[in-house]
Amino acid sequence: MLFKQQPLLTQKLFVLGSLAIGSVLYLVARVGTLDRLQPICPIERRLPPPEHEQIPLRTLQFKRGLLHELRKGNATKEQIRLHNLLQQLPQAIIIGVRKGGTRALLEMLNLHPAVVKASQEIHFFDNDQNYARGIEWYREKMPFSFPHQITIEKSPAYFITEEVPERIFKMNSSIKLLVIVREPTIRAVSDYTQVLEGKERKNKTYHKFEKLAVDSGTCEVNTKYKAVRTSIYTKHLERWLKYFPVDQFHIVDGDRLIADPLPELQLVERFLNLPSRISQYNLYFNATRGFYCLRFNIVFNKCLAGSKGRTHPEVDPSVVTKLQKFFHPFNQKFFQITGRAFNWP
Ligand code: A3P
Repeated sequence: MLFKQQPLLTQKLFVLGSLAIGSVLYLVARVGTLDRLQPICPIERRLPPPEHEQIPLRTLQFKRGLLHELRKGNATKEQIRLHNLLQQLPQAIIIGVRKGGTRALLEMLNLHPAVVKASQEIHFFDNDQNYARGIEWYREKMPFSFPHQITIEKSPAYFITEEVPERIFKMNSSIKLLVIVREPTIRAVSDYTQVLEGKERKNKTYHKFEKLAVDSGTCEVNTKYKAVRTSIYTKHLERWLKYFPVDQFHIVDGDRLIADPLPELQLVERFLNLPSRISQYNLYFNATRGFYCLRFNIVFNKCLAGSKGRTHPEVDPSVVTKLQKFFHPFNQKFFQITGRAFNWP
């Protein structure tokens, strides 16, 4: 009897087991399908995340700009809509001066949570072809930002290009303008070093700095040489002052930005009406680079590229003195106009 009942019991257990496994499989499949077909909370109906959760923009923007991420497919259009992201025209521009430390200034300001930078130099106002593309082309070059953030771009050629002040004025007559300067002779040598490096990369020879900076016929400073002309800061600034009042400019000390960046950045924060947020934690001296580098958070640090902070060639001291004497009266005028004086020779 017992022998006859056992297969029946086994059969029953088998049927019950199959039913249980089948039900589990059905539920798993069903829930999975439901989840795919019908999101629990459709994205359009979700409220924007609380402010402390609005991190993705910042992390994405650190590296390459959200637009870039969007093009790569890393940020969806929904994310942009959900976070109310905009491409805003710049409310402040670093207009120059070339080799003054424009990249360092932009990158350091970008440490501020309310600042978003345009990563590339856009050359909208100094390049006729770009300018002819119109203001919407320019806007599309801007990174995405929250409405409360300010966008900053830098194109150092703006400072010395004739047409630029009028063009920027037409876009926004109350824009804030940042000019970063270094001691003019050092800046001229830095400018020369950059061009020299470009020539050497192409295996071309180039004149010595002394030959370019001093007219061999008259033995006077060669004002036709662009690296010298760019360092006559007051001449360029005077052109800008035909359009903008002097209080719309803030002069940054590029030499101090190298040696001790924080106080300079705090002055810029104040000029831009931003709460003071950049701290010493964000800036650390890297002995190998010989410069301050940037610390965004515990995992993300960066130094500027090797093209920033080149070794300058040695320049004949008599040429250095000649240039310093030449720049002196222009510097005095620059100090007088801007209300900011530097300890230049
Ligand atoms: P040198 O290469 O002559 O040293 P720009 O960005 O306008 O081209 O300016 C380049 C200059 O920025 C460099 O000139 C460098 O001295 C200066 N600079 C300022 N702060 C820097 C930093 N933290 N790292 C690297 N370079 C910095």
